[in-house]
Parts: sequence; structure tokens; C-alpha cells
Amino acid sequence: MKVGIFGAGYVGLSFAACLAEAGHEVLCTDADLPRIEGLQRGLMPLHEPDLEPLVAEGLAAGTLRFTADAQAACGHGDVLFIVVNTPADAQGRVDLRQVMAVAAGIGRHREREALVVCKSTAPVGTADQIEAVLSGELSRRGASLRIAVAANPEFLREGAAVRDCRRPDRVVIGTRDPWAIDLLTRLYAPFVSEPERPLLVMDRRSAELTKYAANAMLATRISFMNEMARVAGHAGADIKMVRRGIGADHRIGPDFLQAGAGYGGSCLAKDVRALTRMAERDGHALRILSAVEAANHEQKGRLFDLMTHHFEGRIAGKTVAVWGLAFKPDTDDMRDAPSLVLLERLLAAGARVQAHDPAAMANARAIVGERDGLRWCATAQEALHGADVLALVTEWPVFREAGLAQIARELRMPAIFDGRNVYDAAQVEAAGIAYYGIGRGRAVPR
Ligand SMILES: NC(=O)c1ccc[n+]([C@@H]2O[C@H](COP(=O)([O-])OP(=O)(O)OC[C@H]3O[C@@H](n4cnc5c(N)ncnc54)[C@H](O)[C@@H]3O)[C@@H](O)[C@H]2O)c1
Repeated sequence: MKVGIFGAGYVGLSFAACLAEAGHEVLCTDADLPRIEGLQRGLMPLHEPDLEPLVAEGLAAGTLRFTADAQAACGHGDVLFIVVNTPADAQGRVDLRQVMAVAAGIGRHREREALVVCKSTAPVGTADQIEAVLSGELSRRGASLRIAVAANPEFLREGAAVRDCRRPDRVVIGTRDPWAIDLLTRLYAPFVSEPERPLLVMDRRSAELTKYAANAMLATRISFMNEMARVAGHAGADIKMVRRGIGADHRIGPDFLQAGAGYGGSCLAKDVRALTRMAERDGHALRILSAVEAANHEQKGRLFDLMTHHFEGRIAGKTVAVWGLAFKPDTDDMRDAPSLVLLERLLAAGARVQAHDPAAMANARAIVGERDGLRWCATAQEALHGADVLALVTEWPVFREAGLAQIARELRMPAIFDGRNVYDAAQVEAAGIAYYGIGRGRAVPR
């Protein structure tokens, strides 16, 4: 099938490349001209495992093309996907301007029938709004075309976007239009297989809400475990053991139960805020989600609090090696990353910071800038060298290459603040390094 895609970000680009790999003819556009020009030459605008060769393959085969001409994309094929960013402000107001700008463009330029699919995460009722914008543009130019609108939220994980696109847990299609269902069923045929990877067809509003409910559930599990970690830390229990214990229960399952330095990324926080606001507008207070967000906010300060405890408040003048800046491994995405909170608190307290990330240095620098006391380090070893203590914020596998002996040698006051609970507490302590994890390691007062 021929498919047009608007938005070549983490989701749009991964999706485009996987559709092309499956044999569809994909034309992808983006409002960011340099991004498109780069992609036309095979240059990746973002870090996502396995994506670069897939894009190169699609370009070489001619099944994946990029264009800066949005009008050309409006005319390409039967199905047009909107995959632009939908940021939410601190109050949870979702900015739908780019979604609606794409819809308006399609309404202005499309010459024949089309199925417009919103893959961007957007509040319940957005597909209705898209439909209204489209029909407004069509009637303005006196065109009478059949344009169906479907919601098709995306559930992929950054860092595993290609894998998740190829083998999604499920595909959710929000439409009751038989023509739209038929097109999307054919489009997704290479990716789904009953019963383990089903295609779920539902009404548009249920599909839109499914996305928010999924992210709200994931955020809830993380904040729940972070709160349990607080209990474990004071009670002398080990939260990793507790996780094993409850994760083995089939009603609970082991995923998304890792305690850590707080969740970040472009989705969980913004979607929790947006869902809370959506419900409030309808007169419902989502008490659980308000607590989930508050707990996460507090959790992002946890590593700093542990250091404050360790140094008995005397953090000024200390040098902290920070390993990992991206909100999770295998991505360069810094949106809402917990590392940003740690860097700000350390610098504000007068500490020096030596920071390294294998992929997110450029994005981190663009956000934080050059600051007194902050050194961006090209390697993990450079960050470690001459530091007093180490904070592990993102669990990139490469950090495991430095053994405990080396860490103990390099640090001037050996202590590890393990924001992802990757180290074995007993081994770390045996190497002469003080160990603080999240809900494990040295006991801390409240
Ligand atoms: N990143 C994730 O892990 C993830 C997962 C599931 C769903 N989502 C949702 O998918 C959507 C896209 O997320 P993302 O992370 O890919 O965002 P992104 O910021 O990485 O990419 C969005 C792209 O859209 C482009 N764009 C903006 N306005 C445009 C326009 N008018 N026409 C064409 N292109 C335009 C931007 O230039 C950018 O390249 C969001 O709604 C997000 O909530 C994201």
C-alpha cells in the first residue's frame, strides 16, 4: 500500500521505516527541513537502535522516501498518518496545533478520497476535531471527497522502537468505518498475528483513551514501586527482592516494577498530566494519578537527597561523576529526564559535576548549556576521573565495563548512588565503596 506520514520523529521515522520494510511504499515528510534533507542523504536525526540500517534499506529499495513538500505527501496513497509531537504544558493542556495544521493541509490539498489516521497521542475527541478541520477545509474549496478519520495510538518504547513496531503487543484501531478498518487491517497484516499480537478495533474515543490509560498505568506501577522502595530503604529490605516476589504473581507480572530515579521521557509525565486535566474538565478528580505525578516529582530528587544524607549536607565543593543523562538507555532523548533534576540540584548546591552519556550529550548540552562547575565528558572514564563519588542515572550497558576495582581506584571518596539499582550492594561494599540504591543498600533516615 502507499502511505503518507507526517512527522519523522522517534515514532514517525521508526514507523515509516518498518512499514517500508514490510513492503509498503512510504512517503514521509516533516516540518523540520534540515531533518528531511539529512534523511534524504541517510543521516539520522535521532538515536534509535536498528533504525539507521532500516532507513538505509528503505531508501535503497525506493520503498521509503522523504520529502519537504507537504503537499506531495498529502497526495500520496490512501492512508495518511499524523505522527507529529503533541506536548502538554504544566497544567496538562495538550498543544494540538501541529496535528490540526497537518489536518488543515490535507483538507486544502487532497484531491481524492483518503483515510487520515492520528497516531499522535492526543486527548479524547481529537479525531472528531480533525474531522471538523478537514470538512471545514473541504467545504471552503467546494470539494466533496470521502475522508475518513481514525485514531491509531502508538505504544512503542523508545530504545526499542523498531522491535516494537515490527512486533507490537497489540495494534489499536479506533474507527467504525468498514473502509477504514479494511485499509488498516491490510496495512498492519505483516505486524499482527492472533492471538498473541492482536489487532483491536474499537470506536475512536476508546482508542484515544486507551493510550492515556496505558501510560497512566505504567506510570502508576513505577511510582508505586518507588514508594515501596522508600519503605524498603527504611525497613532494611531490598526492593529488588520485593519486586521478584510480587512480579512472580501472574496477576501482577514483573514488568515496569523497577524502582529508580523517577520516570522521564516525552510521554509518561505529559500523558499523565493530560489525562488528569481531561478528567478534571469533565468534573472528575483523578486522585491516584495526582499522587503518581507527585511521587515521581519527589523521586527525581531522590539521588540528590541520598547524597545530601551521605555528605551530611556538605555537598558544596564535592565532585560528582554522573553516568547517564538520557531518560533511559538506548535513546538520546532528554525530555523530562531525571538527570536534569540531579544536575540542577548539584550545581545549585555548589557541587561540581562531570557528566557523560553515550548518546545524549548533544541534546543534554542543548538543554543545560555551559555552566560553572559542569564538565561534559567524552567518556565514562573521563567523568569518573578525579570525582569524589559516582551517580548512575541511566543504566546504559556500557557502564558495566568499568569494574568496581576501577571505580574504587578513581573515586576520591568512593560511593555509588545507583539510581537504577544495577549494582550488587554486597559486591560494591566489598570493593570498599559505599553503596546507596533506590530502596536497597545503606539504610537512610527519612
Ligand atoms: N516517543 C515515544 O516514545 C512515543 C511513544 C508513543 C507515542 N508517542 C506519541 O507520538 C507522537 C510523536 O512523538 P515523537 O516522540 O515521535 O515526537 P518527536 O518530537 O520526536 O517528532 C515529532 C516530529 O513531528 C514534526 N512536526 C511537527 N509539526 C509538523 C507538521 N506540521 N508537519 C510535519 N511534521 C511536523 C517535528 O518536526 C518532529 O520531527 C506524540 O504525540 C507522542 O506523544 C511517542
